[in-house]
Amino acid sequence: CDNLSIQNTLQGKRVIVTAGGTREAVDPVRYLGNRSSGKMGIAIADEFAKAGAQVGLVVGNINIAVPNNELIKIYQVSSTEDMLNQVEQLFDTCDCLVMAAAPADYKIKNNFKQKIKKKPGQKDLILELTQTPDILKTMGKRKNQQIVVGFAAETENLLANAQAKLERKHADMIVANDVSAGVFGSDKNQVYILQTDLEPVSWPEMTKKEIAKRLVSLIIEKMK
Ligand code: CTP
Ligand code: CA
Repeated sequence: CDNLSIQNTLQGKRVIVTAGGTREAVDPVRYLGNRSSGKMGIAIADEFAKAGAQVGLVVGNINIAVPNNELIKIYQVSSTEDMLNQVEQLFDTCDCLVMAAAPADYKIKNNFKQKIKKKPGQKDLILELTQTPDILKTMGKRKNQQIVVGFAAETENLLANAQAKLERKHADMIVANDVSAGVFGSDKNQVYILQTDLEPVSWPEMTKKEIAKRLVSLIIEKMK
């Protein structure tokens, strides 16, 4: 049976999976966030644990339960910078990183120490944003033996944009998906797999759990 065949294949291996969206503080009561549910990342963490790997699951904001599994250690983080710091701490001794999280791309340039108050007579509020660090790219540049896998969330030019991310971020694999139509929080998705020196492969629509299973099998092949 399928499950038995992958059991223990990753025993002694360490993987990092990130899941969910990060939040960037605006002021003491507000944040910038995104619609990531964490479902995909958590399904991947579960599959790695089934294969016997030790999983560091770095989670931002998620709206499903975190797994309760001896092989999965949860690291809760808030902002993109927090996520980067946590991933950096785990990276050198890991065999694989899967960035399924949706880190916020921008943070407030000058984080407000006090709650922003409405000013009488002032209808508009302009917030200045600045880019957060790119975790996948940072780790892609640093990798030695690690397999580094990222996602690409696109609403247009899916394959071209995903291919550019594969190269720019020094990733070994990119899972590309079109996020224009109800992917967030959904149980299903349709993805393309891009790998260095290979043509993109289209996977039929399937559940996120099925995608996780196929993805982990593919990563196991690459780790051999
Ligand atoms: N990612 C990351 N750090 C960031 C932003 C994204 O590590 N600050 C990772 C995501 O986890 C994902 C991959 O990079 O694995 C691609 O994320 P995506 O949002 O599709 O692309 P970006 O590089 O952020 O570019 P853009 O949002 O402009 O398309
Ligand atoms: Ca982004």
